Amino acid sequence: MEITEEQLIQEALKAKERAYCPYSNFRVGCSLLTKNNKIYTGCNVENASYGLCVCAERVAICKAVSEGDRQISTIVVSCDTDEPTFPCGMCRQTIIEFCYAGNDIKVIAIGKDHTKPKYSKGSEVIPYAFVPKDLNVDPQLEKK
Ligand code: THU
Repeated sequence: MEITEEQLIQEALKAKERAYCPYSNFRVGCSLLTKNNKIYTGCNVENASYGLCVCAERVAICKAVSEGDRQISTIVVSCDTDEPTFPCGMCRQTIIEFCYAGNDIKVIAIGKDHTKPKYSKGSEVIPYAFVPKDLNVDPQLEKK
């Protein structure tokens, strides 16, 4: 059965509750859908050594990719902010890695009121982004 945007949003909200963020108290949840119709989730995972904090989006993307699932179609990021917040720079670069010609990622940001999402295209989250093509590399998203 096809997974709806609302289901994906609900998964991001649940993931946000699992955030490990005792330092910032800023909860972030992420869910993503792959072309195989599978959902992967992530939350931010902080550390007493602050620089080791990992964002929710990169946790979810690494979970999918490490399962051999590289074709991401949609990614939802959820925070408790008044207005929806889009991914940080590092996560944007990670998202763009998995966008290629003809296969973009729909980015959905949700804040406190999850019924009012904001949307972006993965390929547009960084202007003049540095991408695999710049290194003459085929990202091989279809392969395992
Ligand atoms: N954070 C994310 O999980 N995703 C983002 O895109 C922005 C920031 C986390 C990192 C840190 O645990 C907390 O939010 C505050 O920066």
